[in-house]
Order: sequence, then C-alpha cells, then structure tokens
Amino acid sequence: MEHESINSWIWDGVYYHPHLFGGLMLTAALLGLSTSYFAGIAVPSLPYSWYSQGLFHKKTREKKRIRVYMDGCFDLMHYGHANALRQAKALGDELVVGVVSDEEIVANKGPPVLSMEERLALVSGLKWVDEVIPNAPYAINEQFMRSLFNEHKIDYIIHGDDPCLLPDGTDAYALAKKAGRYKQIKRTEGVSSTDIVGRILSSAEHTLVSEKGDESSLNHKQCEGSHISQFLPTSRRIVQFSNGKGPGPNARVVYIDGAFDLFHAGHVEILKSARQLGDFLLVGIYPDHTVRECRGNNHPIMHLHERSLSVLACRYVDEVIIGAPSEITKDMIITFNISLVVHGTVAESNASAMVGADPYAVPKSMGIFRLLESPKDITTTSIAQRIVANHEAYTKRNAKKTKSEKKYYAEKKYVSGD
Ligand SMILES: *[C@@H]1O[C@H](CO)[C@@H](O)[C@H](O)[C@H]1NC(C)=O
Ligand SMILES: *[C@@H]1O[C@H](CO)[C@@H](O)[C@H](O)[C@H]1NC(C)=O
Repeated sequence: MEHESINSWIWDGVYYHPHLFGGLMLTAALLGLSTSYFAGIAVPSLPYSWYSQGLFHKKTREKKRIRVYMDGCFDLMHYGHANALRQAKALGDELVVGVVSDEEIVANKGPPVLSMEERLALVSGLKWVDEVIPNAPYAINEQFMRSLFNEHKIDYIIHGDDPCLLPDGTDAYALAKKAGRYKQIKRTEGVSSTDIVGRILSSAEHTLVSEKGDESSLNHKQCEGSHISQFLPTSRRIVQFSNGKGPGPNARVVYIDGAFDLFHAGHVEILKSARQLGDFLLVGIYPDHTVRECRGNNHPIMHLHERSLSVLACRYVDEVIIGAPSEITKDMIITFNISLVVHGTVAESNASAMVGADPYAVPKSMGIFRLLESPKDITTTSIAQRIVANHEAYTKRNAKKTKSEKKYYAEKKYVSGD
C-alpha cells in the first residue's frame, strides 16, 4: 500500500513517465510470446486482434525497455548520488531506485540524518528516477534479488566501482554478477555524505568558538581551510545535468532564487510548487560570498557549483543561473522574460538584511511577485542542527568512514567512464 501511494505521488509530478509498456510486456509474457518475437515481426503481418491496434502498433517497433536498479541510503543526498543515478539511468531506459530503510541504516551505519520520507522525497525529485522502492535492504540478499528480477522486472543491478562487502566478507553483488545481470558505474569524485557531515561539524565548531567571543583565534583562512572540497566542477558535468533546452514559444517563465545549501526535501517541494505556476522554472543560485554575508563565515556548506548541480538534478527545474544577484532587476526580468517571481515563506537566506532594501521591490512594483507557502518546514540550519545535536554519534561514525575514504583516495586509480 505504502509502495503504491509513493508511486502515484511521483507520477503526480510535472514529468509523467507513462508505464504502459511495462503492462504490455506482461501481456506478452502471458501470451507466452517472447519480447524478441514482438520486436522482430512486422506489424502488418500480425493477425487482426485487440492488441494490434493503436498504441501497440507504435510500440512494437520499439525495443524492449531495459529496467535497471540501483540502491542506496541517500542520507544527506548530494550531487554525487544524483550523478550515480544519472549514470545508472544511462545504462537502461527505466531507473528503479531502492531506498534503504531507517532500521537497516541504524543497524549498519548508525542513525540516519534524514527520515525515510525525506530521503524518498529527494530521490523521487531527481530527473533520472522513474520508480522508487522504499525500505530496500542494506545488502541485496538472494530473496530480494529474485523479487527485483521477477516482480520488478529488473534487467540489471547497478553499483559503483567501490567494493561492497557483506559482513562475512563476500561480495554483495556476487549473485547478480554470476547471473550476468550486474553493471558498474564510476564513483563520483569529490563528495560523500561523510565529507558533508564533516563540513557541518567543523562549521558548527567555528560558530561555537566565535559565539564564545574568541573571535581573534578565528581568522578567515581557517574557516576556508576546514571546508576543503575535492570537487572539481567541469563544464561537461554541468552539461550532463542540464536539460539543454530554453523555454518554448509563449512559455510562462517562473523565477525563484535562494542559496539552496544542503539541498533537502523542503527545496524539492518548493521547486515543485513553483514549477506548477508556469511552464519553465528558472532558479537563481546565490554565489558563495552572498551566502557568507547573509549567514556568516562558515556558510555555505556546499559551494556554488555543488549547489547548482543539486538544483539542476531536480526534475522540476529547467534552468539555473549559477551565481544570481540577490536583487532582481528590471533587466533580468526582460532578459529571461520572467512572468512571475516567487519566494518561499520558509527561507533563511535574508538577502534584504544584506542589500539593505527589498530585493523583490522591482517584481513587486510590476505586480509579478508572489509569496509561496513553503510546503515543508525544513531549512538548511535545521538539518545541520540534527547533526550537531547528535554530534557524538556522527563524529564516531565519521571517524570510521573517514578512514576508509582516506584509504580509497590513497589507493585510487584512474577508472574510465563518466
Ligand atoms: C514572454 O512570456 C509571456 C508569458 O508571460 C508569453 O506570453 C510570451 O510569448 C513570451 N515571449 C516570448 C517572446 O516568448
Ligand atoms: C530579514 O531582515 C529584515 C531586515 O533586517 C527583517 O525586517 C526581516 O524580518 C527579516 N526576514 C526574515 C525572514 O528573517
């Protein structure tokens, strides 16, 4: 039941992925016909029957759709996860994503930062995801693998190039590999949940130090140094995440801006609401210095390019401005033919405090500004606070993970792929 309601909720999104062909495959199986039979035969030679009409005509000329599966915890989801799922999707036609249950994460890694509901919202919000399976097991056992192949009609199980070992030391994907139904993708460099937790914890430490009035010991360089990111933004990555399309003729362009730091379920929901008000959603992302000026030296947690990729990966977003001004000018409105400027009611980026004036004064005077009720009460700060509140557990969990991450980087070799 839960599974069903989640599915229909995804289909409720802006992009509808028709699932008819899955139904047709089932019909083919019931008739005892192989898919290659359908693909190989010329449509006119089929005897007239119910299935030779309409949609079927068109679909018979298409190849069987390959369904691929990838799973993960997706705790503190970042563009590395998004990129992995993008690569997985490229290995098939339909991407099914298993989201590991809270209980399994607690048992295997320690407490998750995000709830199942939040993790589902984030994964379903990605433009490459077609279906989600909530409460997936942490390691694929034989029973679950069979249900993937038989019930979910999965053709291939996908995993990154880092080894995934079961507690007994065996390869978690041995079964799938033996069945010839395993494919590998390249790990995305430069980010991991461990790294992000580390950034949040060190940012909180610096904030604490400065609140104690020990300002002198805290120079700017130190702050920057604690946030070293291994991420190297390339133009190709940005292209891979882009839709590559501008607004169509007569499109109604909606604009929303913000920091979008630590991209979370609240962001997905507000972007969805904004997209529903028009045909094209343009998102302005504040540069790092703007976020720093509004929220303090230890912000943003994620850099401009990292934040831009996270927003671009969202299915409701059509285009982003990488480094948008906090004040919306008449020129911007004309350049992008913006019909409506929106702003969420739950937002922590207080640009007006910085600019000293209302950043939305121009769109307001033109009568094209709308305050949008934020569907969720989550902010970047509230997520960071969960980690800080659970500081000891996460520090421990992180120390362990950091060691294996260091080992990975020390031993890493070039792997081809994108
Ligand atoms: C600009 O946006 C409006 C909708 O607000 C649309 O009717 C118009 O066609 C757009 N202009 C162009 C040149 O696309
Ligand atoms: C932002 O700052 C302005 C000016 O300091 C203040 O009036 C306003 O209430 C603040 N808004 C939020 C959401 O904190």
